Amino acid sequence: MKTPLIDAHPDDPSEGLSRRELVAGAALATAGLAASRVARSAEPVVPPVAVASANGLEAVRRAVAAMEAGATAVEAAVEGVALVEDDPDDITVGYGGLPNAEGVVQLDACCMDGPTMRAGAVAALEGFRHPARVAYEVMRRTTRVMLVGDGAAAFARSLGYPEEELLTDKARKIWLYWRANISDGDDWLTQPGETDDPDVKAFIAKHGAVRPTGTINLCARDAAGNLGGTTTTSGLFFKIPGRVGDSPIIGAGLFVDNRVGAAGSTGRGESVIQIAGAHTIVELMRAGRSPEEACLGALERMVDATRVPYLLDGKGRPAFDVKFYAVDAAGRTGGAAMWSGAEYAVCRSGAAPALVDCAFLYKRDRDDASG
Ligand code: GLY
Repeated sequence: MKTPLIDAHPDDPSEGLSRRELVAGAALATAGLAASRVARSAEPVVPPVAVASANGLEAVRRAVAAMEAGATAVEAAVEGVALVEDDPDDITVGYGGLPNAEGVVQLDACCMDGPTMRAGAVAALEGFRHPARVAYEVMRRTTRVMLVGDGAAAFARSLGYPEEELLTDKARKIWLYWRANISDGDDWLTQPGETDDPDVKAFIAKHGAVRPTGTINLCARDAAGNLGGTTTTSGLFFKIPGRVGDSPIIGAGLFVDNRVGAAGSTGRGESVIQIAGAHTIVELMRAGRSPEEACLGALERMVDATRVPYLLDGKGRPAFDVKFYAVDAAGRTGGAAMWSGAEYAVCRSGAAPALVDCAFLYKRDRDDASG
């Protein structure tokens, strides 16, 4: 006998799944649940496809496998990114993500379902490594879209998601190094040997003085031709506690409309919010642009909207990076970045996942400091 869901949405087709299935076996439960939906659908079967930021190479493979097993696009997206949320070596997402300025890991995520346009989001969530799954629960169990902070944590706890310390030793060492090097006038001393630590050295070699953001966005089109997506992140490295970027904001870090396409972002979240990035891309696709053209179009709007001197380099160009990813209703994919040298991940059913060059607005020169 299955325990009924608490406060399930009246049209939630998953009603009747047990709490254990939902929490412990999310992938299997969602795949099984979706299988019945696909079987009921009269839509033609199309080869699933998934597109993601470059750190999602394995995530797109998992998402396509989940869709081949019957998961819907949004379910597959959430399951795909769980791989990265679990990975302590990805310091931009989930477990092992870099903390805020006080050393606390605060995670943001959202998801959106193309056919219904239902969405769920969590922000500044502490202690739960899979914010995208919690966002999915907000979408499927409530009539609301976003929960934040303690409320989001209480919601995850009430569903039985395991609570844990997300700050790994590696992330803590990098945070301590950052804290001791904020400025010559701060209160903290760099410890002897700290800069020789391999984790800290690798961080400095990759990011230098730039304080970047990292994130994973994954958008998918399933076997029934439906679209879905998710974005999940630990946000700006060493952010002001409580700072929330674009990732959990529907219309900024993610937007999905089955009639048109799905889009998402990584990079400087404040700039994405200011132009409603993902929504802008979907609207440009609605107006007839390809996914790649739409991503470039949104970046052009961002250039126009970047007017304050502290965000511009010596040549008047945005001194930061943003990357956009999109898939349209026909299954065409695209990605574009402000600066050259970026890639995105794509996987189509029956093929291996691959990294593809992003289109870009500006070619990076050797002396460009833009992150
Ligand atoms: N795009 C991730 C963030 O700004 O938090």
